[in-house]
Amino acid sequence: MYRTHTLDQLGPDHDDQTVTLSGWVHQRRDHGGLIFVVLRDRYGLTQIVSDPQNNAEIHEKMDKLRSEYVIQVTGTVRKRPEGMTNENMETGGIEVLVNEIEILNESLTPPFEIDQDKTVGEELRLKYRYLDLRRSRMKNNLVMRHKFTKMTRDLFDERGFIEVETPILIKGTPEGSREYIVPSRLYPGKCFVLPQSPQQLKQLLMVSGMDKYFQIARCFRDEDQRGDRQPEFTQLDMEMSFVEPEDVMTTNEEILTTIFEKLAPQKEFMAKPFPRMTWEEAMNKYGSDKPDIRFEMEIQDVSELCKGCGFQVFEKAVENKGVVKALRVPGGAKFSRKDIDDLTDLAKVYGAKGLAYIIVEEGGLKSPITKFFEDEGQAFVDAVSAEAGDIVFFTADSFEIACTSMGNIRLACADRFELRNPEKLAFCWVTDFPLFEFNEEEGRYTAAHHPFTCPKAEDVELLESAPEKVKALAYDLSLNGSEIAGGSIRIHDSELQTKVFKALGISREDAEKRFGHLLGAFKYGAPPHGGIAWGLDRIIMLIQNEPNIREVIAFPKDQKAKDLMVGAPSELPEDQIAEMNVKFIEN
Ligand code: AMO
Ligand code: AMP
Repeated sequence: MYRTHTLDQLGPDHDDQTVTLSGWVHQRRDHGGLIFVVLRDRYGLTQIVSDPQNNAEIHEKMDKLRSEYVIQVTGTVRKRPEGMTNENMETGGIEVLVNEIEILNESLTPPFEIDQDKTVGEELRLKYRYLDLRRSRMKNNLVMRHKFTKMTRDLFDERGFIEVETPILIKGTPEGSREYIVPSRLYPGKCFVLPQSPQQLKQLLMVSGMDKYFQIARCFRDEDQRGDRQPEFTQLDMEMSFVEPEDVMTTNEEILTTIFEKLAPQKEFMAKPFPRMTWEEAMNKYGSDKPDIRFEMEIQDVSELCKGCGFQVFEKAVENKGVVKALRVPGGAKFSRKDIDDLTDLAKVYGAKGLAYIIVEEGGLKSPITKFFEDEGQAFVDAVSAEAGDIVFFTADSFEIACTSMGNIRLACADRFELRNPEKLAFCWVTDFPLFEFNEEEGRYTAAHHPFTCPKAEDVELLESAPEKVKALAYDLSLNGSEIAGGSIRIHDSELQTKVFKALGISREDAEKRFGHLLGAFKYGAPPHGGIAWGLDRIIMLIQNEPNIREVIAFPKDQKAKDLMVGAPSELPEDQIAEMNVKFIEN
């Protein structure tokens, strides 16, 4: 038997008992002839000790131990004397005096110490991920992930949902992202693709009468990496039949609330039930479709004030059907020149042409733009109720650019004043998304969510005449400014689906070729249905206060979509490639 206890279990109650322990050498100290070793396993740490007076042979073996050796010891539990206990260790009230020791495996000197407090470069961590995962921060993240998925499964099960696995080798889907492709050996020239999500399959499960489906599903998207994105990530995917948005939202809200209350009891909900707002309101007030509502600092519209104000930039924007947005930042008068330049650069990242500002001081206004006005400077300040000590920022542009750039200025200012407390939970439903987005590059409309999303009934007549005005029966859930879930009611009628495809520039023929299976299925009695998918990795990242999604995935890809540990992607033997009937061409 390798062990009688794990390394979290022993306490003063075990005094004098003989125990067998196994684990890794976490730390080793020599102290006045005694050797102390802290042993580590998944569960905790326990100190073992050898005394040359007690057993010279054992002591010699203890002396050979190095970091990360795997050992087994048998020894006697000793209550530590008063004043010698270690309050920082769960088992700090005892130590184990070693009577037998066996080195089960030696270890090379690890490339970094398995120590919480040291920062290690991410490249090294990912290359040696199996060592990185020995650190308690990483272990805690994986344990939380496990608890989260287990609880999720149980809660959906309790509500009558069944988990159904859907295939990973499927046909290309049009969900917006680039797909990973798998060439077929048996059918030269043909390919499978990996699913961006189980979207079409879960809809087909509704056609088959499954009624309530869920799945902890792996999704694949060949898109540019960011802190909250991975090429391979996990969704909690769900779908229900005979539902309206309210049903889907309530079910998910209840389940998520239960999970967060249980798994993150230290965090404080800012509002229950979760607040809801339309996409337009979210964009107008927060400059984002995933608003961070942990703090107020709302964006305001000052377009009306700009007509004839004298500042060409503002006047032109409004004349061109754009908007002028203002943000009052309390206490912002103390921003330095450099702070303002940095914020201006940030606004430009989101397409803004500049960032105008007015600093409000006791004695008056300070600004590079007030010279263009007569008295309007004060009118702008009054419009946003700014007071001495504040700064007011302005962006003049198209609706999207003015809102989005200001939304990001808002977040940056909130960071500056530490208003984004990770211990607060601000969930927020965003509804009434536009059904389509205009893609400037391609000169056509694309689906804002995916092409199976149902338009609002009252907007169907606008599909041909004014597609940009059509709103969707779609809902996203944001948490603290992150989009953690997105879903919609689906089209279940093949005629309406064809109309939407048409608005997207997909011909009947093309639609038949690409989604014949779905359109066909809709002709055999498809129930009204809808669902949602949570970005599971993102949620775990927020629960654990981690700065990026890679920290909560056991074996993630790096920021360049590579697996540094196994060295993937990699070249394959020529014959293996040839067998696939594939030829690589020089780029
Ligand atoms: P959507 O594309 O919005 O919807 O995805 C749902 C949620 O998944 C998360 N997410 C990601 N997480 C990590 N890395 C990525 N690359 C990534 N992309 C998305 C987000 C997002 O809110 N089939 C639909 C769902 C539905 O309509 O039911 C879908 O996939 O948190
Ligand atoms: P200019 O007259 O171009 O030097 O601009 C005066 C100020 O207005 C500068 O602070 C610019 O950053 C700002 N500005 C320029 N274009 C815009 C815009 N579209 N929206 C908001 N501010 C702008």
